[in-house]
Amino acid sequence: ERLRALLQAAPKAELHIHIEGSLEPELIFQLAQRNGVALAHPSVDALRAAYAFTDLQSFLDIYYAGASVLLQEADFFDMAWAYFLRAQADNVVHAELFFDPQTHTERGVDIGVVIAGLHRACQQAQAQLGISASLILCFLRHLDEASAIATLNAAMPYRDQFIGVGLDSSERGHPPEKFARVFAQAKAAGLRLVAHAGEEGPPAYIESALDVLQVERIDHGVRCTDSPALVQRLAASRMPLTVCPLSNVKLCVHPTMADHNLPALLAAGLCAMVNSDDPAYFGGYLNTNLLATFDALPQLGVAEAWALLHNSFTASFATKAQQAAWV
Ligand code: ADE
Ligand code: ZN
Repeated sequence: ERLRALLQAAPKAELHIHIEGSLEPELIFQLAQRNGVALAHPSVDALRAAYAFTDLQSFLDIYYAGASVLLQEADFFDMAWAYFLRAQADNVVHAELFFDPQTHTERGVDIGVVIAGLHRACQQAQAQLGISASLILCFLRHLDEASAIATLNAAMPYRDQFIGVGLDSSERGHPPEKFARVFAQAKAAGLRLVAHAGEEGPPAYIESALDVLQVERIDHGVRCTDSPALVQRLAASRMPLTVCPLSNVKLCVHPTMADHNLPALLAAGLCAMVNSDDPAYFGGYLNTNLLATFDALPQLGVAEAWALLHNSFTASFATKAQQAAWV
């Protein structure tokens, strides 16, 4: 009980949250009505009942359908602001938000509208909630390289409103190598680099994210334990892994929370921390993830809690001076 209270009250950073994955069913219906968008499900309850996933793709299909209600700048602002209020309740003091511009530009929404709404919410989070917040633009890996390059080019007029690029969506069959050139272009523009790898995909995808894309963090990465040599490399370099426990259980990466390999990752000396991924779809925000993880895994104690929270700050893209105020 003391550990639960500590986990809830501690200041923390969130490094793996897809802002479109924070869109709650209630807000989906509100925005659908506001924008005159038709939905496939008749009610909030019917939509929520469809949240039973068997793998990553079964989730993505529903997640992209949910995002179809986002059209105006205010929609993107309202979504992100709702997230920041929940983050504040969990004592999140720093958040790096992924967003998927191609999900919106493919529907005719201007990328400037997407970024403007999200960035305004980030600024208000700092001003009104004391949460430092920044944006990471993710490329959809099921789309082609040309689309990713066009997206980065379209975002460059707003270069000062996001800090980095990432890679998400359907992992299997879409290795990091496919995006070597757009990541090189982003790096040349001074952007920070991350990529989803080793969520459903093999350890080789983690290796090519590091060697070909030159990422600074691996998102998920839990399948690294299929390769002892890779685990050793990740430990030696203290490469951060943004682990998302509830997501991994809901998408059947691990059968139950008690089977999650987070204790093994920490025992191997990896720089892992807990994140919420798509909290509106997977059953909860950051504190819910932390509590579910510690409840199911008695190997995790106060030392592991401290390590996870500490790693969340040191693996962040906040300045060293900012980090020093937290750790
Ligand atoms: N997009 C949103 N959530 C994702 C996840 N867990 N993996 C890959 N792409 C995603
Ligand atoms: Zn993710």
